[in-house]
Amino acid sequence: MKTLTLDEFIIEREKQFPYSTGEFSQLLNSIKLAAKIVNHEINRAGLVDILGKAGDTNVQGEDQKKLDVFANETFKQALVSRDIVCGILSEEDEDFIPVTGLDGGNKNNYILSMDPLDGSSNIDVSVSVGTIFSIHRRISPIGSPVNKTDFLQPGNQQVAAGYIIYGTSTMMVLTMGNGVNGFTLNPAIGTFYLSNPGMTFPETGTTYSVNEGYYRDFPRGIKDYIKYCQREEGDRPYTSRYIGSLVSDFHRNLIQGGIYLYPESTKYKQGKLRLQYEANPIAFLTEQAKGKATDGSRRILDIQPDELHQRIPFICGSPRMVEKVEEFLGRT
Ligand code: AHG
Ligand code: MN
Ligand code: MN
Ligand code: MN
Repeated sequence: MKTLTLDEFIIEREKQFPYSTGEFSQLLNSIKLAAKIVNHEINRAGLVDILGKAGDTNVQGEDQKKLDVFANETFKQALVSRDIVCGILSEEDEDFIPVTGLDGGNKNNYILSMDPLDGSSNIDVSVSVGTIFSIHRRISPIGSPVNKTDFLQPGNQQVAAGYIIYGTSTMMVLTMGNGVNGFTLNPAIGTFYLSNPGMTFPETGTTYSVNEGYYRDFPRGIKDYIKYCQREEGDRPYTSRYIGSLVSDFHRNLIQGGIYLYPESTKYKQGKLRLQYEANPIAFLTEQAKGKATDGSRRILDIQPDELHQRIPFICGSPRMVEKVEEFLGRT
């Protein structure tokens, strides 16, 4: 039986931070609370009127699902009502949200960027979905309202990042820059326990995850890599697994070894995934788990973002497999 709870783990870790005030623990606590509420709603989604479209589109032109909206509101409420962050960037909101006190300022240290519900297209068919989050320290002075530059920091400035996977079991996978740890929710008592300490990518794997429906539109190097995966030679052909939820595909690859690709295509010139709340947190987890994350030529974590909802081609996973893709891309 696993006995160390997420709360105990966070308190232990925060003691190691210099000048720790407990603010960071409280922030993770609020994320945990929101995750449990969303988990509960997802579990009974077919029973209450929460499946299907909400009727609006988000800033990126995607149809919002009711659960996209519910998860977004739940996470925002958990963070804002506790006055625990100074600002939030969400996939579902066009602009960042400053959290201000009565004086118009904010004394908090941290900003949060999030994909409240990842893999929305899976909701209506009872397939696993996730939440992704990324935490930065603000750049603007404490006490002032946050501004856009606080949200346009590169991934290498992240203090912590993680995801919740609402799967056959619900897990939170977290990094605070000191390795990656996984916590499984015991739904009977609503407590996350450390179940997967020190998660690392196998050096290589035999699974590749890419939407092959777009094959025709991919760059030459990616097409060649996919052909390489399919060729009979050594441990190949590899197995193809694509759930259509970054969190779920990543989680499987992290545990079993594998590679995830969402490259640019003629349809999506910059790929589809968003840098600040999809690629960066997943890239931070990847590197902390000894994997590699690239846009094809650059380390994801070193990319300076220009836009809040900027998209980026994204390749991540077992280090040897990512290096192989880089090799193919280098040839073209
Ligand atoms: P979201 O549901 O947060 O908008 O993210 C969907 C993303 C990602 O989770 C997934 O890997 C990818 O979109 C799937 O896209 P395709 O359907 O184009 O393959
Ligand atoms: Mn979306
Ligand atoms: Mn997503
Ligand atoms: Mn989403």
